[in-house]
Amino acid sequence: MAIEWDKGFATKDSHIDEQHQQIFRFTNRFESVAQQEDPDLHEVESLLSFLNTYIQNHFRYEEACMLKRKCPAAQKNRSEHIAFKAYLSRSIETYRTEGYRKSWAKDLHKKLEDWLCNHICRVDVQLRDC
Ligand SMILES: [Fe+2]
Ligand SMILES: [Fe+2]
Repeated sequence: MAIEWDKGFATKDSHIDEQHQQIFRFTNRFESVAQQEDPDLHEVESLLSFLNTYIQNHFRYEEACMLKRKCPAAQKNRSEHIAFKAYLSRSIETYRTEGYRKSWAKDLHKKLEDWLCNHICRVDVQLRDC
């Protein structure tokens, strides 16, 4: 099921909210690719590369923002980002070494969806009060 951005994810920073919405859109596109039996691997590559780059840039931007505003969640935000980046690179490495498998795509999609929803509504939203 696709993830939809709603006010529960709002941080009151329009750039960050727009970045989260963009990450949701690409996570949903990845989901539709992951449901196909024989997806176009060029599309898999470009989605992976987009997600990876965009997420890294987003993390950098958001971490700087929290530091600047002395947000109490800054340290937690950064350490959860580090753990997620490690997961993402391990998953991409698995894809590189083992090739495309539907189970890999489904696992990665589920992790993206679960992690994003959980992290944004628990940690990123703390920017609202900073
Ligand atoms: Fe974050
Ligand atoms: Fe975020």
